[in-house]
Amino acid sequence: METLLLRGRLLTFLSEPQSVDDHASYAYEDDGGLLIRDGRIVAIGAFAAVSKKAGPDAKLVDHRPHLILPGFIDTHAHYPQMQVIASFGTELLEWLNRYTFPEEMRFADLQHGRRIARLFFDELIRHGTTSVAAYCSVHKESADAFFAEAESRHMLVVGGKVMMDRNAPDALTDTPQSSYDDTKALIERWHGHARGHYAITPRFAITSSPEQMEMAGQLAREHPDLHIQTHLSENHAEIAYTAELYPWAKDYTDIYEHYGLAGPKTLFGHSIHLSEREADALSDAGSIAVFCPTSNLFLGSGLFDYLRYRRRAKPLRISTATDVGGGTNYSMLRTMDEGYKVIALNGEKLNPFASFWQITRGNAEALSMAEKIGTLEVGTDADLVVLDSAATPGMRLRMERAETLAEELFLLQTLGDDRAVREVYVAGKPAKSDLAG
Ligand code: GUN
Ligand code: ZN
Repeated sequence: METLLLRGRLLTFLSEPQSVDDHASYAYEDDGGLLIRDGRIVAIGAFAAVSKKAGPDAKLVDHRPHLILPGFIDTHAHYPQMQVIASFGTELLEWLNRYTFPEEMRFADLQHGRRIARLFFDELIRHGTTSVAAYCSVHKESADAFFAEAESRHMLVVGGKVMMDRNAPDALTDTPQSSYDDTKALIERWHGHARGHYAITPRFAITSSPEQMEMAGQLAREHPDLHIQTHLSENHAEIAYTAELYPWAKDYTDIYEHYGLAGPKTLFGHSIHLSEREADALSDAGSIAVFCPTSNLFLGSGLFDYLRYRRRAKPLRISTATDVGGGTNYSMLRTMDEGYKVIALNGEKLNPFASFWQITRGNAEALSMAEKIGTLEVGTDADLVVLDSAATPGMRLRMERAETLAEELFLLQTLGDDRAVREVYVAGKPAKSDLAG
């Protein structure tokens, strides 16, 4: 029964901020108190009031003058691609064949998976990310390594082994039956175990045969509560090749719809080049379009039209993500900085409150998990990030001229990285200061 009382500037979102003046969309306490017991938030408010609720044995940690927010959530990353980041000179399909597939072969070795999973979660924590939805490799061992590492850190994660049975090296393919069997066994082992959530993960339509897509749909019918994660409409050559492989389909999205894979718990990575029909279909299904700005820029995939997607008559649910290792940074601050620039190239501006809503509550809502993570509400898990807006000399100097909370957040997004993350709590336990080295 450990009780922790944190003091600092508290910020949590209540709804999606519509503008920089939308002060009703968030709750902010300048001298705030957060009481944590057994990994959960039990009280939040002004420090003077919350400290009265803490018993004599509560441990006080004073984080003033720093900001305390819900931990960041990354809704799409590939943990086997840590050593693929910064691979030069290709677009998606060549990048997969030349760099990514050979790297993922190494995950047949459980020891390798364990080492990389450990380093992956170290990087997430270092950058303030407390939950991730991740792809493992095709090997079930890679999913074992991922979930075991997350569990040892008490982290809430979503993950799955990729299903892929064609258009990849033999060493990286399963079969419709083996991917079904392996996925079943992994669901049994990890889903609902500690804070683990299994995601059915057909990599994308190019690397799954119609038989495997059928099996993925079968799994989705058998486990309707599970997330599904896959890739959609990222790159023009990918879209053309997909149309060749599924000549009967109206479009790329139709393939996933056909196999029963487009629902409210489906995360469609990228979703950049959607037709109006496809966007309507995703909206009707309640599926998520995952914005991966650093990856979309790095691979030259295209400019995700975030605000147009949000404002259309049938709006899309959107999450944001690093997409490491197509993405180039583990930081959700760096991700939103690049996201801001992508949105600027589309002729619009995303306000800083909306950015921070997105990487906390917005991503939690996209995962249908806002009752557990993404806010500082009483009863939710105490996954937190503590941010220092003056972490570097350049930030400190810029902060001298920041007068509002919105300016401070925008500065954090534009200039911040892992150095701005002073501490991270996972289920109420300090996690960043606990990292080795
Ligand atoms: N499409 C299929 N697999 C991948 C992947 O690993 N990364 C990205 N960015 N796109 C993909
Ligand atoms: Zn991806």
